[in-house]
Amino acid sequence: MIPLAFNLFYAGENSLGANIIEKLNLESAQFEIRQFPDGESYVRVDSEVANRKVILIANLHQPDHKFLCLAYLCETLKELGAAHITLISPYLPYMRQDIRFKPGEAVTSRIFARYLSGLVDKLITIDPHLHRYNSLDEIYSIPTTVLSANRLIADWIKQNVNAPLIIGPDSESAQWAAETAELVGCPHLVLEKTRHGDRDVEIAMPDISHLKDHSPVLVDDIISTGRTMIQTAQELRKLGLKTPTCIGVHALFSDDAFCKMKDSNIMQIVTCDTIPHKTNGVSCSPLLEDLV
Ligand code: R5P
Repeated sequence: MIPLAFNLFYAGENSLGANIIEKLNLESAQFEIRQFPDGESYVRVDSEVANRKVILIANLHQPDHKFLCLAYLCETLKELGAAHITLISPYLPYMRQDIRFKPGEAVTSRIFARYLSGLVDKLITIDPHLHRYNSLDEIYSIPTTVLSANRLIADWIKQNVNAPLIIGPDSESAQWAAETAELVGCPHLVLEKTRHGDRDVEIAMPDISHLKDHSPVLVDDIISTGRTMIQTAQELRKLGLKTPTCIGVHALFSDDAFCKMKDSNIMQIVTCDTIPHKTNGVSCSPLLEDLV
């Protein structure tokens, strides 16, 4: 029997959630998730789920409210007899708080992983922010599959950018920048970033003015406040390099980040569709086609 799929928090016919369901030829589940007037959540499953394999495809950007709905849904599916629950969370939230930076802080990556591991049987995600953890297995107790959008990003660069120079704006982005550059067959460099606060970063730019003939392409996993990309683009401009293309896998664009980046007029912005946004230019659905 084909798996039953729940498309959660992905709106629109062309969203990644809808694309996956169509491409994998899954049966769309009938269900309702909504808020009561007092803000509490209402969850109802209409499809028959007993003994069935269930796939949840969830956009967990801004996860706090969504997570509770997900928990109610998972517990209900289990009560109704679902045989196995796979969660496809193309963007995996809460990965950046991977250490107690200050005494007393919650290491939310670990706590979130523990909660999620108690809800679903398997997790599939794309380019999670693995910085201090080498693998999701360090914090998730369920089987996990990690996919990478690097190949898709490399294809996009090959088709759209002439003489690219891939730039990772910080050491954490080295994993994306190096592999993408190898796939494109072009040079790359990784910069040093110092973060002074949520919206305050400093980029140390080496003298790369001899690379003026190249088209800089900044590659990073997450665009959140956009300051990493803006600061790097400003440094490139000072050196007289061409206007960079900024590619982020996960388009978080917190608060006014997108406007600030666009209005700076010093970059083009492209993202993958793990989180729906008008900058989505790389579809990740090919990554998921053979998986479930
Ligand atoms: C963290 O190190 C990530 O790789 C990104 O560089 C970071 O999340 C970007 O954040 P922001 O857009 O707020 O500068």
